[in-house]
Amino acid sequence: MKMTSLRLLLWCFSGVITRNHCLPPIGTQPEQVHISYPGLKNSMLITWSSANETESVVEYGVWGGKLFTHSAKGTESVFVNEGVEQRVMFIHRVLLSNLTPGASYVYHCGSSFGWSDIFFFSALNESDNGRIGDEFMRQIESIAAYTPYMTCPGNHEWVANFSQYRSRFSMPGDTESLWYSWNIGPAHIISFSTEVYFYLEFGLDLLFTQYQWLRSDLEVRMGRNDTTPPAPGLEDLFYQYGVDLELWAHEHTYERLWPVYNYKVLNGSSEEPYVNPKAPVHIITGSAGCREKHDGFIPHPRDWSAFRSSDYGYTRMHVINHTHLYLEQVSDDQYGKVIDKMMLVKEKHGAHAWS
Ligand SMILES: *[C@@H]1O[C@H](CO)[C@@H](O)[C@H](O)[C@H]1NC(C)=O
Ligand SMILES: *[C@@H]1O[C@H](CO)[C@@H](O)[C@H](O)[C@H]1NC(C)=O
Ligand SMILES: *[C@@H]1O[C@H](CO)[C@@H](O)[C@H](O)[C@H]1NC(C)=O
Ligand SMILES: *[C@@H]1O[C@H](CO)[C@@H](O)[C@H](O)[C@H]1NC(C)=O
Ligand SMILES: *[C@@H]1O[C@H](CO)[C@@H](O)[C@H](O)[C@H]1NC(C)=O
Ligand SMILES: *[C@@H]1O[C@H](CO)[C@@H](O)[C@H](O)[C@H]1NC(C)=O
Repeated sequence: MKMTSLRLLLWCFSGVITRNHCLPPIGTQPEQVHISYPGLKNSMLITWSSANETESVVEYGVWGGKLFTHSAKGTESVFVNEGVEQRVMFIHRVLLSNLTPGASYVYHCGSSFGWSDIFFFSALNESDNGRIGDEFMRQIESIAAYTPYMTCPGNHEWVANFSQYRSRFSMPGDTESLWYSWNIGPAHIISFSTEVYFYLEFGLDLLFTQYQWLRSDLEVRMGRNDTTPPAPGLEDLFYQYGVDLELWAHEHTYERLWPVYNYKVLNGSSEEPYVNPKAPVHIITGSAGCREKHDGFIPHPRDWSAFRSSDYGYTRMHVINHTHLYLEQVSDDQYGKVIDKMMLVKEKHGAHAWS
């Protein structure tokens, strides 16, 4: 910052001769500088705007070394504001690549027609070369070596196209554990990835492939073969095929819902909502969570919310027989206390379960 003011001062002095030089270079002066991680290893994206057209340059260098040893050029685009004034501004983007992971950099942006203040950032130290994955696998060994540890991918697994997840686990089928189904006792259990709806950069076809797979897995189960074109949403699909129970996560909380479909609570009866319900039952069980703490709840629960807890904990499920499924929620914060229970009873399963 000192440097910049010094430079302005010098310009002003020299401007004594030709007055105009003393005016600061307003229209081409960079402003609104911000940085983002572009999702490419060892890189950083610098974005800023200027009122007038100019060049897009970032000068940078490692903190503590010689100032601005590197320079990178980027692109400028025109942004016409949609309001009545139709204001025009120029947005500049410069990608810095081949940064050293974890190293601090000093930079300024603009061009010889005006430089920003001097800022700094630390390049992401994104790769631990799989050591956190190793540590996780070591920690779960105490349970996963003794009892089948069945998984599904979540958003924390996204790095490098879910490669840690795909490479380390061994779930049924040939989808690198991304989605699969299996039978145990009277239950047919499906594991699928909601991440295909969020990480579209890894291929939109994953979303469609999984949807087709889900549909045919449910079809085969239900002995149906409906060939109408699919619309890849999940609630209708699971309702159509009479799925009994859906376990969700991501929120670091526990919530049991009354049977619900399309915003309507469809209890079996108001005395026994889970005996022959008229819609799937949803449980959100993400409170095992990680060290990102708990997620809050909206203050006024919706009609379908039956029980909520933000205690750390986990869910136990017992598929008793063809008609009865028992589920309970254990609180770690309350030293193993069972804080919620549900007995789901269904005499009919599959596509005709709701009639
Ligand atoms: C610089 O931008 C301002 C504001 O948009 C505009 O009024 C002016 O004409 C521009 N100057 C040049 C040289 O383009
Ligand atoms: C980057 O992360 C690794 C693994 O966590 C660590 O050993 C290393 O010291 C970190 N490097 C920097 C520069 O922070
Ligand atoms: C990500 O991984 C999936 C599963 O292996 C694969 O089908 C897809 O093509 C990959 N996407 C990219 C962009 O590599
Ligand atoms: C459904 O029917 C189509 C066309 O008749 C057939 O190609 C497909 O294999 C069937 N799928 C199942 C799961 O039976
Ligand atoms: C569903 O059952 C629960 C528990 O008896 C009750 O509180 C709720 O009002 C019922 N909802 C409807 C729409 O019947
Ligand atoms: C299924 O389990 C429930 C609960 O234990 C029991 O009441 C019911 O009789 C069982 N049904 C059959 C067919 O065994």
